[in-house]
Amino acid sequence: MRTIETSSTFNLGHRAVNPFGYGAMQLAGPGVFGPPKDRDAALAVLREAVATGVNHIDTSDFYGPHVTNRLIREALAPYPDDLVIVTKVGARRGEDGSWNPAFSADELTRAVHDNLRNLGLDALDVVNLRCMFSVHGPAEGSIEAPLAVLAELQRQGLVRHIGLSNVTPTQIAEGRRICEIVCVQNYYNLAHRADDALIDELAGDGIAYVPFFPLGGFTPLQSSTLSDVAARVGATPMQVALAWLLRRAPNILLIPGTASVAHLRENRAAVELDLPPDAIIALDGIWTSTAAA
Ligand SMILES: NC(=O)c1ccc[n+]([C@@H]2O[C@H](COP(=O)([O-])OP(=O)(O)OC[C@H]3O[C@@H](n4cnc5c(N)ncnc54)[C@H](OP(=O)(O)O)[C@@H]3O)[C@@H](O)[C@H]2O)c1
Repeated sequence: MRTIETSSTFNLGHRAVNPFGYGAMQLAGPGVFGPPKDRDAALAVLREAVATGVNHIDTSDFYGPHVTNRLIREALAPYPDDLVIVTKVGARRGEDGSWNPAFSADELTRAVHDNLRNLGLDALDVVNLRCMFSVHGPAEGSIEAPLAVLAELQRQGLVRHIGLSNVTPTQIAEGRRICEIVCVQNYYNLAHRADDALIDELAGDGIAYVPFFPLGGFTPLQSSTLSDVAARVGATPMQVALAWLLRRAPNILLIPGTASVAHLRENRAAVELDLPPDAIIALDGIWTSTAAA
């Protein structure tokens, strides 16, 4: 469990970032497809995030597609020196909004160039290889060939650092034999803790763990225990879920998504939220009871 030093940073590639980052996926239209309902509001969320200290933004050119990257560029370029933008490649969107694997050398190279162009960058800070052996969760399959493509783009100077997403421990081990892996981005929150052991192993090796769906994603977290703890500590359930994650391990970097400035501010306040030991025990019980069921 991380000690409560909310000002502590963690290395993400060549920079130390704050534990509270921002995930830009919610800025695209419904189903992460097409333009946002309210463009000005989307730009305002990005500017507010950076103004309040976010220096780690997670995105992908397949959000929209192209939509969130162009919003990020419009809202934030020229980028602050300390901002780390992490993107991901490995999927492409169908015309119907479907999510399809895009693992060939051509597709991965094109995706890196699309990200560079739409973000307005000469080099990408961090690129995650988003595995698509199964869309919805990690599934085994060799990542040697696609990762070698990213490693070559890194040698060319287009990619500074490489991460992995939606991966198994076996794939992470395989990846680390091919190139340095600076972060892992998998589905994890207080009700979905399959990666518990992995997080601690990565922490020991100085590798960032970035939980996606920290608030439950498309199905927001709902639990009477979470609501009870929130009422007891005078916070919202979403703040408690984020505060729990922040304290879970020193290598956890948060990227909660929102298209609302009010929610962004609410979520940011979770950094200051103190969770007493008995609250953490109660929250730990949410997963224990789910896993035992
Ligand atoms: N690697 C991958 O495969 C993968 C997959 C999914 C996501 N991601 C990344 O992870 C980031 C986070 O995931 P996510 O955005 O899908 O899910 P999330 O952060 O778990 O939850 C976002 C949802 O929670 C709502 N929300 C946020 N703050 C709230 C608050 N204070 N009160 C009530 N509702 C709140 C948002 O709605 P509002 O907009 O109304 O606030 C949105 O519907 C994404 O932005 C993306 O960058 C990566």
